[in-house]
Amino acid sequence: DDSFIIVAIDGGAASGKSSTSRALSERFNLLHVDTGSFYRTMTAELLRTGLAAGDEAGIAIAAQALPLETSVEGRRAQMKINGRVVPDAEIRTPEVNANVSHFAAVPQLRQALLDYQRGQAQVARDHGFRGLVMEGRDIGSVIFPDADFRFFLHADPVERARRRAAEGQTDSITERDRLDASRKTAPLACPDGATDIDSTHLTLPEVVDLLSEHLSARLGPVA
Ligand code: CDP
Ligand code: CDP
Ligand code: CDP
Repeated sequence: DDSFIIVAIDGGAASGKSSTSRALSERFNLLHVDTGSFYRTMTAELLRTGLAAGDEAGIAIAAQALPLETSVEGRRAQMKINGRVVPDAEIRTPEVNANVSHFAAVPQLRQALLDYQRGQAQVARDHGFRGLVMEGRDIGSVIFPDADFRFFLHADPVERARRRAAEGQTDSITERDRLDASRKTAPLACPDGATDIDSTHLTLPEVVDLLSEHLSARLGPVA
């Protein structure tokens, strides 16, 4: 179907990807796919089996063997491993925060997620969505380089740390950004041709309106 649209949103930690994606998914009837939650879920599962960040070979093998499924809850795609959605309380822990960028740097783990992430387009179609909005670090560069819309959200690191702290999270976002931007496979970067948005001085509704204007300019106003 020609009218199916793909929106890619990338950016550093606490740049506003999740809140913006959630709002867009509601305005435009899109499946919301938070790929950070996928990396967090895999990391939590692999940590639970006793794997440590330094064990690249172990992570590579175990990641490729994980049976991944999707369940759609509301407008959100949830990863299921062994039939279970790993709850937020287990994937947003200080331990996962500290480990996820190391696990996400293992090429075979990223490879294991590649088809799964692209397959979310079919999940969205099957559930009658108009398209999907997928957020992460490499969506506009690697997963959907031909997406209809590609955005990259910036925000000053001090402002991002303030946002994350306001959520009561223990999370060294500058360290994660450093690891994410310096890894060899699919590093965090604004891809060529993506729309770059600095949200440092914008409120969340202002960011949502800005992205919505881009979508509406091509799709027409929200039905
Ligand atoms: O919510 P926050 O922006 O802090 O992080 P997240 O989106 O939940 O992503 C957690 C981690 O997963 C990132 O720091 C990356 O290491 C990894 N990730 C990735 O490598 N590629 C993606 N497409 C999404 C997340
Ligand atoms: O998904 P990501 O880690 O990129 O960011 P988020 O979870 O959407 O946003 C992190 C926090 O910053 C949330 O509490 C948002 O409400 C807040 N935020 C903000 O204060 N101003 C913005 N322009 C965007 C997000
Ligand atoms: O379209 P279909 O669901 O059959 O195939 P898919 O592999 O799930 O891809 C869905 C959409 O992702 C395609 O229609 C492309 O627009 C987009 N895509 C992309 O932008 N870049 C890729 N490397 C692969 C797919």
